[in-house]
Amino acid sequence: MLAGKRIVLGVTGGIAAYKSVELCRRLIDAGAHVVPVMTAGAERFLGTTTLSALASEPVRTRLWDDPETPIPHTKLGQNADLVLVAPATARIIGAYAAGLSTDLLTNVLLATRAPVVVCPAMHTEMWEHPAVVDNVATLRARGVHVVDPESGRLAGGDVGAGRLASPESIVAAVEAVLAPGDLTGQRVVVSAGGTREPIDAVRVLANRSSGKQGYALAAEAAARGAAVTLVSTVDLPTPGGVELVPVETADEMKSAMDRLAPTADVVVMAAAVADFRPADPSDGKLKKRDGVPVISLEPTPDILAGLGAAKPDGQVLVGFAAETDDLAANAAEKLDAKRLDLIVANDVSAPETGFAHDTNAVTILAPDSPACTVPLADKRTIAAAVFDRVVQIRSGG
Ligand code: C5P
Repeated sequence: MLAGKRIVLGVTGGIAAYKSVELCRRLIDAGAHVVPVMTAGAERFLGTTTLSALASEPVRTRLWDDPETPIPHTKLGQNADLVLVAPATARIIGAYAAGLSTDLLTNVLLATRAPVVVCPAMHTEMWEHPAVVDNVATLRARGVHVVDPESGRLAGGDVGAGRLASPESIVAAVEAVLAPGDLTGQRVVVSAGGTREPIDAVRVLANRSSGKQGYALAAEAAARGAAVTLVSTVDLPTPGGVELVPVETADEMKSAMDRLAPTADVVVMAAAVADFRPADPSDGKLKKRDGVPVISLEPTPDILAGLGAAKPDGQVLVGFAAETDDLAANAAEKLDAKRLDLIVANDVSAPETGFAHDTNAVTILAPDSPACTVPLADKRTIAAAVFDRVVQIRSGG
């Protein structure tokens, strides 16, 4: 979460400058106050209008003609919680490594004591040039966070290393630098999405879970420094730094969770696992001409109850309870029956909470402690509240 964080977004003159617009929007969505600074090259590629409209303040481009202050670089540098350069060209990396202050952005970089995240983007030949390699190593040695470029299609149809990292990876890197880091070194496994149980070769029994809460939990744990594995049935963008294990059915999810949980410090079952599945799925497609089929159901294994029964010492096991009535009583019963350390209960019938929404409102219950209610908030804020409680439990509270 970046709520209230002041981020200077430096944009330099590469083709990837257009991606800074999407990045800016995501930083704003995460609650950051974004102050864009463009180099002359970036201005040629992108112009200032779009970023000025999307960011928290108009784009700054010049060292000399700021109407608010004669020394914009020191104010921007001193007031920043973080300076992010995306994309970063070979020129800005070289100038920063050499300590040259030739334009507003290089001045801001030298005038700040805030953490700096640099996201290089350039052609493969430039990225692999010994001068650039040395400059990047110099920046890293000084504590600058470098988000390595990806391999892929580059400008002009070339393919290779040098493409700007994805917005998810860049936002995750920014969050990790600014987050408390209170899950550093811990292994966290999260399940997300609704399982799909085959009826025949083409039809499934599914539910309305979007997986958004599970993905927000995985992103939050990664931002706090955990090594996160996400066992998921849905196809959403994987949060930066998170390992994805795709599954579809309750049986597949159970095998993945049973394999991963024994070595995890924290396990969060946010998935909506089907309670029943067709007992005898057909290998082929059921034919309409054969009439309406009778589908008998059988129970699925309760994955969470199995994890509770086999829970290693010290592990924090978190379950979810989607309820439509008697929220607290039903959740408390599951907490006890499944040997959980926490249960996160939400009323899926309430407006703007639960399945498919971007927001949620939950009650978090732990054995022998008062229930804690998190009022309607985006799913990332809910995830932060869950991990605040997890960290408290792990530190003996
Ligand atoms: O008992 P109930 O299904 O309401 O409990 C919900 C919790 O149990 C969720 O954390 C869900 O992921 C988990 N669960 C499970 N296996 C099932 C059903 C639910 O792990 N078959």
